[in-house]
Amino acid sequence: MKLAVVGGGSTYTPELIDGFARLRDTLPVEELVLIDPAADRLALVGDLARRIFARQGHPGRITTTSDLDAGVADADAVLLQLRVGGQAARHQDETWPLECGCVGQETTGAGGLAKALRTVPVVLDIAERVRRTNPDAWIIDFTNPVGIVTRALLQAGHKAVGLCNVAIGFQRKFARLLDVTPGEVHLDHVGLNHLTWELGVRLGGPDGEDVLPKLLTEHGDAIAGDLHLPRELVGRLGVVPSYYLRYFYAHDEVVRELGTKPSRAAEVAAMEKELLALYGDPALDEKPALLAKRGGAFYSEAAVDLAASLLGGGGSAVQVVNTYNRGTLPFLPDDAVIEVQARVDGTGAAPLAVPRLDPLYAGLIANVTAYEDLALDAALRGGRDRVFRALLSHPLIGQYEHAEGLTDRLIAHNREHLAWA
Ligand code: G6P
Ligand code: MN
Repeated sequence: MKLAVVGGGSTYTPELIDGFARLRDTLPVEELVLIDPAADRLALVGDLARRIFARQGHPGRITTTSDLDAGVADADAVLLQLRVGGQAARHQDETWPLECGCVGQETTGAGGLAKALRTVPVVLDIAERVRRTNPDAWIIDFTNPVGIVTRALLQAGHKAVGLCNVAIGFQRKFARLLDVTPGEVHLDHVGLNHLTWELGVRLGGPDGEDVLPKLLTEHGDAIAGDLHLPRELVGRLGVVPSYYLRYFYAHDEVVRELGTKPSRAAEVAAMEKELLALYGDPALDEKPALLAKRGGAFYSEAAVDLAASLLGGGGSAVQVVNTYNRGTLPFLPDDAVIEVQARVDGTGAAPLAVPRLDPLYAGLIANVTAYEDLALDAALRGGRDRVFRALLSHPLIGQYEHAEGLTDRLIAHNREHLAWA
């Protein structure tokens, strides 16, 4: 089995390698190709990746290349984990929206739209080249904004599934709180990427007993504390929102906070410097503890599970992924991309049925789906007015003066990445 990782020179790659090494029985990778245009970083990360495999006795071969076509040839699956414009572009996404009193975040709101506009054309180009060299390969997209990028891929007819680590993070956390193994915890996880709620937490399988009420009674303080949301709010909802919902439920509070501290991009850039210095040490042969300060916890385990199931065995039968709605949420178009539990096998992902949703969640999901629709239109066809329409439709923006101001800023800060601007 051969896997390719586009963006393989990321400082985050050792997390992925560590997962591949630990979970080699689930996913027996014979060759792993790390692909990245940044040759220096790729060499550093590639050497460390080989040392991690060696230390853990993994027999697989790790190669590196900056040649995408050569790298993806014969790969059974291609993982996309790239960031167009790097942390510098992310820093912009996280800061200029604040000037209009709107949240600055890499996937939510105006910053997320900027990221979508930069990313969709690049990912589509990569996917096209994958298909040309290797039409059977699965594309696993971890590249944000995952909902919009996955929809772009599926609409272009690619064999793609979108992946995020929010659900697996909750699964692991709830398993710890309940003192059971993660595999026993099934989440009634519903929504769009970075806009989800855990409506139930079931033990043993998708039809098992729902222990969410018990979890909230016994561990509500810890759960709400992690989300930086009031315990009282989580109790009233009776469900667990993902931490991205804080940008909605506490928007103004978040904007005030963001105005008083360095951007997450600046923090991550500082960590990356430190990480690269560590990676240069030939004695290092495991993922450094500092990586745990990044947001992608358990990403590697989710990726292994998904790849194993798509490639015909080994992974969990039911996993949370991003895929076409196809009637699952009846108030959305069939070709909206949703993030829910799905049955995953060699033919792809098929969402499990979802009971009728409370309008409290359905309303926001429908609104953000409409935004994602317009965002994808702007990403594919460009133009100031399409950017404006996407921003005007976003529930965190809405007012035309904000949408105008944000449109100008988005274009000004991203001109070098937008072919049409
Ligand atoms: C979570 C999200 C990812 C996101 C990451 C950011 O893992 O699910 O989609 O990329 O956080 O983490 P960072 O360390 O870059 O802030
Ligand atoms: Mn994510």
